[in-house]
Amino acid sequence: MKILICGGAGFIGSNFILYLAEKYPDYNIINLDKLNYAANLKNVKKLEGSANYKFIKGDICDKNLVFDLVKDVDVVVNFAAETHVDRSIMDSSIFIKSNVQGTQVLLEAAKEYDKRFHHISTDEVFGALGPDDPSFDEMTPYNPRNPYSASKAAADHLVRAYFHTFKVPVTISNCSNNYGPYQFPEKIIPLFICNLFEDKKVPVYGDGQQIRDWIHVDDHVRGIDMIIHKGKEGETYCLGGKDSEITNLYLTKTLIQLMDKDDSYIEYVKDRPGHDRRYSIDYGKIASEMGWEPLIGFKDGLRSTVDWYQNNKNWIDDVRSGDYRDYYKKQYINR
Ligand code: NAD
Ligand code: TYD
Repeated sequence: MKILICGGAGFIGSNFILYLAEKYPDYNIINLDKLNYAANLKNVKKLEGSANYKFIKGDICDKNLVFDLVKDVDVVVNFAAETHVDRSIMDSSIFIKSNVQGTQVLLEAAKEYDKRFHHISTDEVFGALGPDDPSFDEMTPYNPRNPYSASKAAADHLVRAYFHTFKVPVTISNCSNNYGPYQFPEKIIPLFICNLFEDKKVPVYGDGQQIRDWIHVDDHVRGIDMIIHKGKEGETYCLGGKDSEITNLYLTKTLIQLMDKDDSYIEYVKDRPGHDRRYSIDYGKIASEMGWEPLIGFKDGLRSTVDWYQNNKNWIDDVRSGDYRDYYKKQYINR
């Protein structure tokens, strides 16, 4: 099988490529990534030079390039996106370009050459839950509430529209918050780990009582593999973590304990505007149709993630460039 991975130099995309290359050594993998600030080719360094792997630097909005690549593959998997909510609040324009227009270009190519297309989406498209609301599932109406989730929702609607209008063989997965190796340290878990390594406080937004459903990236990539091979065209699948619906404050305290610090390292800072209160996923559909379930509990996954960052401090230094430092100042110091 020849497979085009878009956004394979980012966090989840690179974990997926490493997983695929190990499980299916005969697959041909093409990684198309424009290498934005969150990308790092070192994530997939061990595949460099391998006959079955090729990296192409490029943008999913580039129609000629995309058509050329899609023509020759069997499956397209789209991870490529701008992904950080706080950055989308500062400026949403690139989110609309990459997440919406980029997906449309990929869909046009999949339509032209009748290719299987899997789109990676998020639970954030469903909006926010109250404390007693049932978890999100595939039937939950879309209700995005920040520019990032609105751009992801728009892309999902296009994917569904290309199935209904043009019969493009698509699937979508809506997954909850991921954590694990290679996550850029602007998202809460790697940001807090990196701050604690440097003996700095960790900035908890608002009262810290917001709830997220945490899934280890290894569980996510296993689910994507199943959907690509066994998913039903036109369908959406929700993926979430193992008993891991927790408040940000619980997450923070667990991490602080694991890293032998104390609660004096917590700094409550101004809340994110429009901060969604609770996300939660019911993954019953993929569990009953394909036997997928998350295997990694939150505490075990968090411990191994801290170990990974501890053992990969060079990786952290590499990704925290001038751009990262400017962003950190804008978001946390000069607010
Ligand atoms: P990431 O920011 O780490 O990586 C995104 C990658 O996409 C980067 O390598 C970047 O260079 C690339 N990219 C961005 N715009 C591009 C463009 N126009 N053309 C080509 N490449 C481009 O993000 P991630 O956390 O790995 O997320 C991957 C996907 O999973 C995204 O679609 C995201 O919405 C979705 N998702 C993420 C989470 C999470 O918790 N991280 C949860 C659910 C869904
Ligand atoms: P984040 O990792 O940005 O993921 P998302 O917004 O996509 O869920 O944030 C996860 C939660 O952590 C979210 O409720 C916001 C909160 N948060 C903080 O409290 N402090 C921070 O510095 C960051 C980055 C996030």
